[in-house]
Amino acid sequence: MPAFDIDTYVGRSRAVDLTAFDWAAVPRYSMPPEALRTMRFMQDIESHTIIYLRSLLATRAIDDPDVATFLACWVYEETFHGLALARFLEAAGSPVGERPRPRGREPWLKRLEATATAMVSRAWPDFCAVHMTWGAINELTTLTGYRRLAAVADHPVLDELLERIVLDESRHFFFYYRQAEIRMQRRAVARAARILVDRFWAPVGSGVQPDTELRFLATYLFGGPEGRAAARKVDETIRRLPGFETVQLLESWMDRRVGGRDGGLPSPHGGRNGHGSN
Ligand SMILES: [Fe+2]
Ligand SMILES: [Fe+2]
Repeated sequence: MPAFDIDTYVGRSRAVDLTAFDWAAVPRYSMPPEALRTMRFMQDIESHTIIYLRSLLATRAIDDPDVATFLACWVYEETFHGLALARFLEAAGSPVGERPRPRGREPWLKRLEATATAMVSRAWPDFCAVHMTWGAINELTTLTGYRRLAAVADHPVLDELLERIVLDESRHFFFYYRQAEIRMQRRAVARAARILVDRFWAPVGSGVQPDTELRFLATYLFGGPEGRAAARKVDETIRRLPGFETVQLLESWMDRRVGGRDGGLPSPHGGRNGHGSN
């Protein structure tokens, strides 16, 4: 994989242009209610990036100038993903509305997790490798999820919007992945990072959105044969990182939490999962 050039990334960092999409055309095309529900989850997670940044800022991650510069652009871009998705939902007649729990008031388990993370980071100088690996997994899952959403929803305006967002997600993934790859050249670092990922990794959105919503999204996007193949590809890509050759991620989470190879939720098209046709 080529090197990541932070100057090029910064030069290309842009907010999604909210005037570039034909929002008035959104209601002219049908949008499955399952796709809207999935988008609401994704919109919330995009908007939650600033809270995730808060925990990152309490770690050594910001001591690395490239990581600090990247994070500043990253949070800006992710914020606009949230705004763009909210705009689409509004145009589709399903506005986001107020969050039941204010974003800044996280569940105690999440706050505990952030405190523990900051403590481990202080004690272990190479902790940033874990963040970078985590980021690579999350960005790849997100970009794969958007591609699946575009395929199953089949809505022309959404297609254009997701194509634009996926460009950012691909560059985010590339940064995190390269950082993780470089940092885990040292075997001891890779071994420790692997232990933490094995023990604590869960898909992006876990603990932020209710578990029912996470399982709904997972089934809708990754439940059918094509979704399964996409989830497998995420895992296979992460397995190329040093020390991660045998890691079990999205697919095994699906097996444990969603159940079976075909998911468990009713299909928008009448079958058990209904994704095979897309
Ligand atoms: Fe995003
Ligand atoms: Fe991203």
